[in-house]
Amino acid sequence: MSRGAKLFSVVVDVEQVRGWIDAASAVTVLTGAGISTDSGIPDFRGPQGVWTRNPAAEKASTLEHYLGDPEVRKQAWRNRLDSPAWRARPNAGHEALVRLDRRGKLHTLVTQNIDELHQQAGLDPGKVVEIHGTMRQVVCWSCGERAPMEVALERVRSGEDDPACRTCGGILKSATISFGQSLVPEDLDRAERAALGCDLLLAVGSSLSVYPAAALVPTAKRAGARVVIVNAEPTPFDGIADAVLNGSISEVLPAIIG
Ligand code: APR
Repeated sequence: MSRGAKLFSVVVDVEQVRGWIDAASAVTVLTGAGISTDSGIPDFRGPQGVWTRNPAAEKASTLEHYLGDPEVRKQAWRNRLDSPAWRARPNAGHEALVRLDRRGKLHTLVTQNIDELHQQAGLDPGKVVEIHGTMRQVVCWSCGERAPMEVALERVRSGEDDPACRTCGGILKSATISFGQSLVPEDLDRAERAALGCDLLLAVGSSLSVYPAAALVPTAKRAGARVVIVNAEPTPFDGIADAVLNGSISEVLPAIIG
């Protein structure tokens, strides 16, 4: 390494990060699909990720394709029926973040995940911002009516391969944010305030490659927070992080949170 070269990944031992968390009073956590892989839900861009294994699927997961092509919707309903998320249970990573909250240190948890495992682990739903929505609700694209996803899945199991809204006949989709769909302004605002108002930002299990969620990391850094990234693979923000812990989330989070 040439003289003066910037250390791109500050390898800081777990004990030092644990000390930073012990000293912190307002930790904002940003989670991604990586925290749910140990619960049996594949991520998107990891070695066994959904997009890694089937790049074409990422292109098809846009709002335009979903609304425009009944075949895309029928496949989406089949995927929803078979989703491993219905059998998933929170893991040690989710449980460690509940302990962080019970220690009075959690400012806000912003999650890109749609599986609600943070809430199932016992995290106060009022502290969770589901910036990409939730798969456990279904919403009509035309009239906005919402219902539990299970209601729509029951219709699919009974033979409706692309169930329409019973109120207005509109297209039903999961209450998630697809590519091409705008995020909920209130969620964005809460997430931004959480990044500005924390003294430590903990980014867990995200490739930090999708915006605006990924922007929370530099936003927190510019506002003076310490940044800690916990992820198996490098991310574009390792260079500005105060610590990068490249390990298994289910092992690292309990070690740094207690
Ligand atoms: N321990 C540590 N890191 C892990 C683990 C684990 N057990 N499992 C996966 N990872 C890491 C992967 O190496 C990967 O870098 O988690 C990261 C997950 O990154 P992505 O699959 O890109 O998931 P995410 O960052 O949440 O994607 C953001 O993209 O497709 C959209 O809307 C979707 O919300 C998603 C968004």
